[in-house]
Amino acid sequence: MSSAPELPAQVSPPEFAVTATRPHALAGVDVIALPVLAGEGDAPLLLGPGADEVGDLLGVDLLAVLEAERASGTAGEVTAMPVPLGAPQNAKLRLLLLIGLGAAGPDDFRRAGAALARATQDRDAVATTIPAVEPEIGLEPFVVGTILGSFGFAWRSQAPEHLPVAKVVLGGLSDDDRPALARAVAIGGASWRSRVLCSVPSNLKNPPWLAEQAVQIAAEAGLEVKVWDEKALADEGFGGIIGVGQASATPPRLVRLDYTPRKTTRRTPTVVLVGKGITFDTGGLSIKPGESMVSMKRDMTGGAVVMSTMAALADVDCPVKVVGLVPAAENAVGGNALRPGDVVRHYGGRTSEVTNTDAEGRLVLADAMAWAVAHIEPDVLVDIATLTGAIKVALGQQVGGLFANDDALADTLFESGSRSGEPLWRFPLAAAYEDKISSRIADADNAGGGPGAITAALFLQHFAGDVPWAHLDIASTGDAPADSYEWSKGPTGFGVRLLLDWLGGTDPLSGIGARA
Ligand code: BES
Ligand code: MN
Ligand code: ZN
Repeated sequence: MSSAPELPAQVSPPEFAVTATRPHALAGVDVIALPVLAGEGDAPLLLGPGADEVGDLLGVDLLAVLEAERASGTAGEVTAMPVPLGAPQNAKLRLLLLIGLGAAGPDDFRRAGAALARATQDRDAVATTIPAVEPEIGLEPFVVGTILGSFGFAWRSQAPEHLPVAKVVLGGLSDDDRPALARAVAIGGASWRSRVLCSVPSNLKNPPWLAEQAVQIAAEAGLEVKVWDEKALADEGFGGIIGVGQASATPPRLVRLDYTPRKTTRRTPTVVLVGKGITFDTGGLSIKPGESMVSMKRDMTGGAVVMSTMAALADVDCPVKVVGLVPAAENAVGGNALRPGDVVRHYGGRTSEVTNTDAEGRLVLADAMAWAVAHIEPDVLVDIATLTGAIKVALGQQVGGLFANDDALADTLFESGSRSGEPLWRFPLAAAYEDKISSRIADADNAGGGPGAITAALFLQHFAGDVPWAHLDIASTGDAPADSYEWSKGPTGFGVRLLLDWLGGTDPLSGIGARA
């Protein structure tokens, strides 16, 4: 018997289809879901497209159903009406869902999608006109919400108890809506992929395994890939990655993925994304208490986000070159572990005194950032990492931390976060705290103390050179405490949606580094 663990097959997101037909005329769906909008005065609730026909078909007054159920129409509210005997043209129909869409903004469509996903588990097919209310605003967030609300991950002996609805038919749309659907499926799928990677337990997910996933992604998505093994890392002077990974039974890796847009010129800019890839964080000799260690299989969330984002760049027509770097290591305990007081020499020569081995993320990110600045000459550098418990104290679990040395870059990322449902809040790179990361013997101390999220960002800033740089500290949002709309309890894969919103725009670098 092999001791190598094997992950069972996982559930998949639903398939989507677009049609001009409205739900009442679609045979073969077992669920119809209609939007409920907030109205005014005497008509506090309004039903969306297709509702009149469905009401006629079933011979019910749907507004009266809502009233009887005291529905309010808030986004994601579900009023369910069984249809036990099917309908004249559709013997298969069993359930009608009236789903609140609130004021029909992007967040409302996302919530309605997630609510639909949860209410249609184990069904064959649902037809809905929710995105038809306003396809330009609603199609993408609705589809992304439906995908993420369907997310599941399990490693059980038996098949999953519940399956996502197999098919979602978007009625009342036209062929012109197909490109937006394809883009939404790519964004939702990338975010799903990131959640899967973060959910995999660390008895399977070690640095070589993570690198292997990157190689598979590259083959699938047509990216170039390079992997540094522990020998190459040592030979080329990646002292942070080697140091953090040296006590683990599985050696560290550095992964590089390259995306090149279809059309490039000599002036096509390059963005570098760096994602923290700690496949498990025990804290090292500065060991974490047991309860803080439980979720540390997801300390590679930044790396998963970078890999999953890279996989979808072509699908969102990203117009710039993007290089993704994932420094991957397991922060383990052992006789060969980094000790408090050890000094590591990063790529390029800067040194860090390791006063706390649990501040390992910045040690591996520093190497990758220094390498990128030296070899890629990026126009923009963004790192993303589950870096500090302090950011979680400051922001809770629904907003990510943003630091930047360039205001236009900060504004752009902030906007993408708000639009995509992955909100960020900006913190200062306050120079007043620089002395906290000074060391008596090295160029910096890796654990300067409070304010912890800021001193971590200041530590990293030294490795960004004069490149426009942003740092996303997602220790806050990497884990959801409960199922809530598009979030499912556990690893969130936070960051994919916001990075794809940014890099999938027509001119992502506009105004950044004083660009026109
Ligand atoms: N991976 C942790 C940060 C973290 C905390 C992520 C909670 C997700 C949830 C990181 O490596 C860490 O341990 N940071 C220390 C730094 C300190 C020792 C300077 C922290 O925040 O306590
Ligand atoms: Mn740590
Ligand atoms: Zn960590």
